[in-house]
Amino acid sequence: MMAWLSELWSGGTAAIEPATLRDAPALAQLHGASFHRGWGEGEFESMLTERNTLVHRLRMGRKVIGFAVSRMAADEAEILTIAVGASHRGRGLSRDLLLTHLGHLAGRGVRTVFLEVEENNQPARRLYGRAGFATVGRRERYYRQPDGEQLNALLMRRDLS
Ligand SMILES: CC(C)(COP(=O)(O)OP(=O)(O)OC[C@H]1O[C@@H](n2cnc3c(N)ncnc32)[C@H](O)[C@@H]1OP(=O)(O)O)[C@@H](O)C(=O)NCCC(=O)NCCS
Repeated sequence: MMAWLSELWSGGTAAIEPATLRDAPALAQLHGASFHRGWGEGEFESMLTERNTLVHRLRMGRKVIGFAVSRMAADEAEILTIAVGASHRGRGLSRDLLLTHLGHLAGRGVRTVFLEVEENNQPARRLYGRAGFATVGRRERYYRQPDGEQLNALLMRRDLS
């Protein structure tokens, strides 16, 4: 089915909302499909019950197609992960998700947001750059791939006003 048609059937435009415990299976499934080292349902359940963790879901109709997770400490937060399902990428949905997520962090009193991104992850780097994040550090050989390859991480920061 054509993409726009399937979107029509599944309920139209995307919505960004706080995730609930019932989203844990869908979030674990999306995470596993997006990263080598997936987080299980149990990990999402604990994050969804922790008061210092903020989780938003991106929903299209009844389907959860993306999410953003961050952890807060005093007036700082770290974005732990953000992902959009492979078949929904490249349409700017992650930008709306990230900006909404940042707005909620600001509402919770967060003034500075950090994140780490793999140096070769161009879609993520473009997303963060356009959302106002600046590179403030670089960690050599920070990530280890399943094949043993070691990749660098960039540390990025954005102040919320
Ligand atoms: C990173 C991610 C969330 C972006 O989601 P998305 O909805 O596709 O994002 P967008 O459509 O806004 O695209 C983001 C940018 O990447 C660019 N992009 C998309 N696919 C690309 C590719 N294969 N190569 C290079 N750039 C690409 C887009 O053009 C866009 O840049 P622009 O705004 O300058 O045009 C998504 O790719 C993803 O889930 N990746 C796997 C998980 C991940 O790596 N998360 C981030 C690390 S925690």
